[in-house]
Amino acid sequence: MHQKFKFEYDQLADDSALGTEDLELLKAARKATQNAYAPYSNFLVGAAARLSNDQIIIGANQESASFPVGVCAERALLNSVGSQFPNLSITTMAISYQPIGKDSKEPISPCGMCRQSLLDFENRYGATIKIILAGMQGQVMVISSASNLLPFAFDGKILK
Ligand code: THU
Repeated sequence: MHQKFKFEYDQLADDSALGTEDLELLKAARKATQNAYAPYSNFLVGAAARLSNDQIIIGANQESASFPVGVCAERALLNSVGSQFPNLSITTMAISYQPIGKDSKEPISPCGMCRQSLLDFENRYGATIKIILAGMQGQVMVISSASNLLPFAFDGKILK
């Protein structure tokens, strides 16, 4: 049988269409790019998570002289939240970026490894994470659950 996978998301012309809380989160993600350590790629990524107690926590990519050791902003943030606030879930994550000397006008989307980690977090807390993707300017994408970004994911149920 032929099957189809599809999901719905919102595409906004710019950040002015976001609600107050989501705009605050996106601004925090944009600012978090300043905390990136990316001397090899010059691609600064910032992420911000709103926790279930409304607190905002940020993360930024941290590269290594041994390139594969580096970590993306999203997983730096998830690892920090999981370590510091193990009893709180994430309601929303915003992700932005600034390539040094280049434009940042369209959304970027998390890499495959970060998608798995986001899904792990959703499953761990039984709570969907809304994802907001945008550059420093321009279009904004809003995805209602991280699970939409990883169809046919390995969710670990088989390990139990
Ligand atoms: N990067 C992130 O932090 N998040 C993404 O969603 C994509 C890529 C980082 C990894 C590396 O430090 C740099 O961006 C270039 O790939």
